Amino acid sequence: MVEKKRLEIVLPDWDDDEEEKAPEWFKTTIKASQVKSDRGTVTHAGFLKVALFRLRDGIVAIKNACPHAGAPLSGGSCRGELVSCPRHGWAFNLRTGACLTRPIFELRRYPVKIKDGIVWVAV
Ligand code: FES
Repeated sequence: MVEKKRLEIVLPDWDDDEEEKAPEWFKTTIKASQVKSDRGTVTHAGFLKVALFRLRDGIVAIKNACPHAGAPLSGGSCRGELVSCPRHGWAFNLRTGACLTRPIFELRRYPVKIKDGIVWVAV
């Protein structure tokens, strides 16, 4: 007679809901005056690569990876509050994060503050 063994599966304690973690502020190496309105400026906030863009009333920070297929949005063309992805041309609103081409996609945005002329980003 064959003895059946029971397998016990232990799942790790998943913690994949980044939205609920309190953001941590990181000082970047970028001066606020270096951020331009016609192109993205790449920097790091901790280990995360972010792209900074200047809007009329301030600076926004987004994850420097297109939500479609990961192209660096810092290399996209900018017009007002819109950036176009350099790979497939999808358009995103930098202020709201909305994708104008495929509305189910959205930019990952991060809070920004300027302290002593230096850009800080919370991720
Ligand atoms: S990678 Fe950005 S639109 Fe495809």
